[in-house]
Amino acid sequence: MPPVLAVASGKGGVGKTSVAIALARALRDRGLRTGLLDADLHGPDVPRMLGIRRDAAARSVTLTGPSELEAVEVEGLRVASVGFLLGGAQGLTMAGQFAELMLGRLLKQTAWGELDVLVADLPPGTGEIQQGLVQLADRVSAVLVVTPAEVSHLDTGRAVAVLRQAKVPILGGVENMAYFACPHCGEHTALHTPAPPDRTVWALGVSKLAAVPFRTDATVTAADLAPVADLV
Ligand SMILES: Nc1ncnc2c1ncn2[C@@H]1O[C@H](COP(=O)(O)OP(=O)(O)OP(=O)(O)O)[C@@H](O)[C@H]1O
Ligand SMILES: [Mg+2]
Repeated sequence: MPPVLAVASGKGGVGKTSVAIALARALRDRGLRTGLLDADLHGPDVPRMLGIRRDAAARSVTLTGPSELEAVEVEGLRVASVGFLLGGAQGLTMAGQFAELMLGRLLKQTAWGELDVLVADLPPGTGEIQQGLVQLADRVSAVLVVTPAEVSHLDTGRAVAVLRQAKVPILGGVENMAYFACPHCGEHTALHTPAPPDRTVWALGVSKLAAVPFRTDATVTAADLAPVADLV
């Protein structure tokens, strides 16, 4: 099992999936054989965001042979999503042990091929998926995603505590939607009321590795994540 880089956050909608995909691309660009595990059982967005077709996803579930899933090759990345297993039942509510079983199956019973690193896109929060991943994988480190808003920092602060308790190293954090740069004059405008500095995850000792602007085309680029990829 390759080292797992878990992209996590206390909050939904802050850009975890966008960051996980961009980080996987940045690692691939450095010549690492990179996998991308979509562990968001409640909202598997990776297939859609990478344009993986339904038939390719269906083919990946072979249900024969030693591995039950075949990672789908996209852009030189090896991708497996819980969405492949769920098929049309996406959004199904799964709790407790079942979620962990699905995650274990995805992680261990996917034919990943040879990988140097596996990026995992997690659902928001500090629930059973996060804890399951820590138990299932041998080497996990975390990259946190926040926006400048105080709630995002408060909720992710709880994730920091849980990760530290589980002895998961935190590589650092990415501040997403950090500002909007005016396309005309370049002036930076804040989109959120920023959290007071002493109520941020930075104040908890998490290093800010990158600040990604809000972009009208919604992209987070591999170049944005270069400072994170450099640490791997
Ligand atoms: N820097 C950005 N600029 C503009 N839009 C962005 C940026 N980052 C992410 N988005 C958009 O914000 C939305 C939420 O992003 P994303 O799905 O990556 O977040 P998430 O944290 O994974 O959400 P969830 O908790 O629902 O899984 C998406 O529509 C995405 O395209
Ligand atoms: Mg997501």
